[in-house]
This record gives sequence, structure tokens and C-alpha cells, in this order.
Amino acid sequence: MNINPRLETLPDYPFDRLRSLLEGIGSPDNVTPISLAVGEPQQPVPSWVSTIVQDHDHCWNNYPPFAGTPELRGAIAGWLDRRFGLTPNDLDPQTHILACAGSREALYLLPTWLVPETKNGKRPIVAMPNPFYHVYGTGALASGAESLYLSATHETGFLPDLDSLDAETLERLSILFVCSPANPQGVIATTEYLEHAIRLARQHDFVVVSDECYAEIYDHTPPPSALQVCHEVAESSDANDGSLYDRVIVVNSLSKRSNGAGLRSGFVAGDPVIIEGYGRFRSYIAASIPFPIDAASVALWNDDRHVEDIRAYYRRNIDVAEAVIGDRFGFYRPPGGFFLWLDVGDGEAAAKTLWRDAGVKVLPGAHTSRDDPQGNNPGASYIRIALVNDEATIRTACERLVKVL
Ligand SMILES: Cc1ncc(COP(=O)(O)O)c(C=O)c1O
Repeated sequence: MNINPRLETLPDYPFDRLRSLLEGIGSPDNVTPISLAVGEPQQPVPSWVSTIVQDHDHCWNNYPPFAGTPELRGAIAGWLDRRFGLTPNDLDPQTHILACAGSREALYLLPTWLVPETKNGKRPIVAMPNPFYHVYGTGALASGAESLYLSATHETGFLPDLDSLDAETLERLSILFVCSPANPQGVIATTEYLEHAIRLARQHDFVVVSDECYAEIYDHTPPPSALQVCHEVAESSDANDGSLYDRVIVVNSLSKRSNGAGLRSGFVAGDPVIIEGYGRFRSYIAASIPFPIDAASVALWNDDRHVEDIRAYYRRNIDVAEAVIGDRFGFYRPPGGFFLWLDVGDGEAAAKTLWRDAGVKVLPGAHTSRDDPQGNNPGASYIRIALVNDEATIRTACERLVKVL
């Protein structure tokens, strides 16, 4: 059978790899199993969401607009304004924002839209942090670009070293994925870091795709958005030619901000040329947000109160983890997101031990990273722990972890 040989090279999905790794290993009979492997919020969306969905029950028969309703795009613009100071003068909901069915869709599809056949006569490159959210790699693969995995290790501050991009790479670079707060390490890209990425993109003609889906989950410092940084770049260069968000696209969703992973409600925003083209492209192929979910999303983007509660919930979980784990396994408080990234020496071995001896499921770091050209995997010595369960469960899991590892 003829199939796409590029996509055939796709490795098993991280959670399938975990399933295979743990196959045949039972958890202890005397403990309740706890899974901290998947970054899925375990708390509900605000209770008023279901009322809004019910109130729009009559809309299920209607095809919703591909780009989201004007109300939804307006609510997203309102949140971007409140959260990042992007005023309505700078951010037009019609030209700068598209709703999409969760950020995953955009992260996968954007490379298909953006990557050319060749760049400067050569095969284009899509670069991403390593470890990384697996969808970046799949999007890059489908686009035909070469994937470049940029190590984001303790030594590089857990973000890729942008100075490591050499002239040949920059010449071929089509997309640079940035993830802040980073999954899995939880670091926040500073304004300076984002500015560096944006300036490089404009100088070398590539697009920064900034995955900001953990932007509302932070410990002390609210993470900046690449869009906000565009304003700072514009101010310092006096650019006033409508190219404010030139070559910058941010991706975000309600999945983490509002515990709404099941809503499949997100957006892309930024460069109006890309938004127009990508919007045209996705209108053929992508799922649009059903009217009832669109209406609920409007209310969620308009409300910040529930987000404060969600943020406080994860902070408490980090407090508990810190109190129990202390300074073992290189523990640090993640400045953003809700993952612990613990250096346990051998992540796969630790994941097996944790399941066999403690009934705790975690993701080995190697399952969210790729080998570098020297065959080293920057995630191999780590495990990723999603602090998504309630405080008592997190305490129990961490206590078991320190006991068996
Ligand atoms: C870094 C990162 N980006 C994007 C996503 C996709 O989220 P969604 O499609 O639910 O918006 C996830 C989900 O876990 C993620 O961790």
C-alpha cells in the first residue's frame, strides 16, 4: 500500500509508549493507583458553563463560523488586552484573531500552511525545544520540513539557546516553536528572550509560533506574551507601518486556563497576513467551535475570577510537592505551568519503579524528547509529574515517590 513515508516515521504517541513501558508491571495491591502522567486538569470548568451550553441547545444543528463568532473573537481580544495590555487599537478581533478547536490543531496545522517547498533554495527547517510538546514534531513532519530539536536543558536554562542557531540554520529556518511557560520544565521565557526570537525571525524571514497555553498558570510572575513583546520591539524601533505582529503567531486555549480541555476551544493571534491565509486554509479542513461551546468560551474569556482560583489550586499543589520532596531530584518550583521536572537519573527506570512499588504513574522525560545528533536524549534522566490531582492525592503521590526512588 502507498502511504506517506514521512508520516510513517512518526514514533508512538508518548502515552502509548508509557503504556508499553509499563506493560506487564502491576501496581501494588495495597495502594490506590494515582496517575500523574497526563497534563489534564482534574478540576471542573466553572459550574455556570453548563447553563450557557444548555441555553444554546437550539444551536446544535447550525454549522458554526470557521473563525469563531465575532463575540468570541471580541472576548479573546478583551482578555489579551486585560492580560497583556494589547489595546483594541492594536488588536483587531477580525484581522488578528482566529478561534480554533484547541491549540493542538493550530500547532499541527500551522506548519502545513507556513512551510514553503524550499527556503533560499534549500529544505526548510522547523525548530522546536527538546523536550517538547509532541504535536510540534508532528506538524513539522507533515509539512515536509526538517525537524531541528534544540536542547533545552538545565545548562541552557531549560529554553533553547537561540545563539546556537548558526547562519545556515537561520537561512533555512521556516518556523521556530517557543513554549512558555515550557512544558515540561515550567520555565518562563523572558521579554528579552522573546524579543531576541522575534528580531531573529524578522531578520531571517521565519515565523515565531509561540505556544502560550500555560500563560495563566504561574507561581509569582505572569509570563509575557510574544504579542506584548512585539509592542516593545515596535516602540524601540519606531515601526509604524502596520507590521506590529510581523512573523509572530501566538497560540492559546481554555484547556489549562479554565480547566476546559474537553471544550476544545482555543485561538491563534498575531500577524494579520498569516491569520488571513491560515484562516482560509483551515476553513476547508478544521473543526469549528460549536455555538454552545463558543458561547461558553465567551463567558470564560470574559471572566478572570475562576482563573485566580485555578492558579491558586496549582500553587497549593506545588507547595505540597515542595514540602514533601524538598531538594531531592533537583526539585525547583516551576515558575509556570503545573509540571514537576525531576532529575531521577534514569526516567524510564524510575517510571517503572514508581508504578511497580508505589502505584504512581508518571511520564519518563525521554518520552517527550528526542535524541540529539550524538544520540543523547536531554529528557532521559527526568520524569515529568503533572500536579493536576487534588492536594491530598498529590501529597500521597509525592510521599510514595520519595519512599521508593
Ligand atoms: C505545551 C502544550 N501546548 C499545547 C497543548 C494542547 O492543548 P489544547 O489543544 O488542549 O489547547 C498542550 C496540552 O497539553 C500542551 O501541553
